[in-house]
Amino acid sequence: MDTIKIAVVAGARPNFMKIAPLIKAFEACNAQGQGRRIDWQLIHTGQHYDPLMSDVFFTELGIPAPTVSLNVGSASHARQTAGIMTAFEPILEEWKPDWVVVVGDVNSTLACTLVAAKMGIRVAHVEAGLRSYDRTMPEEINRVVTDALADLLLTPSEDANENLKREGIPEKKIRLVGNIMIDSVVSHLSNGRNGRVLEELQLEDNGFIYVTLHRPSNVDRRESLEAIIDELGAISEQFPVVFPIHPRTCQRMKEFDLAFREHNHVRLLDPIGYNDSLSLTKHACCVLTDSGGLQEESTYFGTPCLTLRPNTERPITIHVGSNRLTQVETLRSDLRSAVEKGRQSQVPPLWDGKTAERIVQCLLEA
Ligand code: UD1
Repeated sequence: MDTIKIAVVAGARPNFMKIAPLIKAFEACNAQGQGRRIDWQLIHTGQHYDPLMSDVFFTELGIPAPTVSLNVGSASHARQTAGIMTAFEPILEEWKPDWVVVVGDVNSTLACTLVAAKMGIRVAHVEAGLRSYDRTMPEEINRVVTDALADLLLTPSEDANENLKREGIPEKKIRLVGNIMIDSVVSHLSNGRNGRVLEELQLEDNGFIYVTLHRPSNVDRRESLEAIIDELGAISEQFPVVFPIHPRTCQRMKEFDLAFREHNHVRLLDPIGYNDSLSLTKHACCVLTDSGGLQEESTYFGTPCLTLRPNTERPITIHVGSNRLTQVETLRSDLRSAVEKGRQSQVPPLWDGKTAERIVQCLLEA
């Protein structure tokens, strides 16, 4: 039987829920035994390496152990990107895949795309075409370069197709496949794996705010992080606040000697796993975040979301009404109106749990 060789790349926390459904779909295709066999390898770059940022997701999402771990670790953007490129090149030289599949917009996505493109190996980008039009975000640079080099651009929503066409990417390279993160959400719901986190933290359904913040623009400057902490403290007098803290944010709080006040009702947690995060997203009365993934997951659950950023590369979450941009100055009043407005349940087209199947079809046809 004809075989197609696919190297799948993952490196950082937001990648893992995107590769899990893809690998399951590869295996399902092989199990059917019709058409071409997919010979896949999973390459973990090691951009994220702490057990709570990586291993937990492999376990909870049932991802097989990586075929190869590059163990690159943390460094400046240039060093990390270069480290991944240097370690990835010999893997491709030896294995010679037909395709490299990259997901999302992290440094691993960019680094592996650059290596493959220069070796003449075709690249498929899952979650192509998202744009914040804000080049101060490292992820925007990663998105633009990855999409310029990719041979197959697999988009989550129609706005992404429009962005790519505006950049002159030929339409024949673009496929609207839907949102792969939602495949993981749907499979989590059908497995009935609810996190125990609500019980453990004694939280009431619809009675708390779920906060995640890690963007350099929010946490890397003292004044900005201090203002956010003050506001969250004040908000916690009204609603319990649950805040699993990202390593970057944790480091910055220590570095700037910042802490919540004792009387604040902020539950600071270590980074949490996938099941607990989905449970918090589903049951919060509002999510406050600067993450891309949480904007989408909250949209799926219809949970009001406030995004603490001046822009978003996921405008569809705003169009369907679940998400809204906010800033520290208006946070309290935005939060009140978001909670008052309550849930809505419009889910964008093709956010249906079947994106991985469509991607496999595209790869087999391409
Ligand atoms: C990266 C991604 C970002 C994504 C985020 C999700 C880029 C440019 N950024 O940002 O898009 O939203 O992941 O988490 O790719 N650290 C640990 N343990 C780890 C990993 C990191 O302690 O397992 C610490 C390190 O000190 C590191 C810092 O966190 O310097 C930041 O990690 P890094 O991967 O550079 O960027 P993130 O902020 O995680």
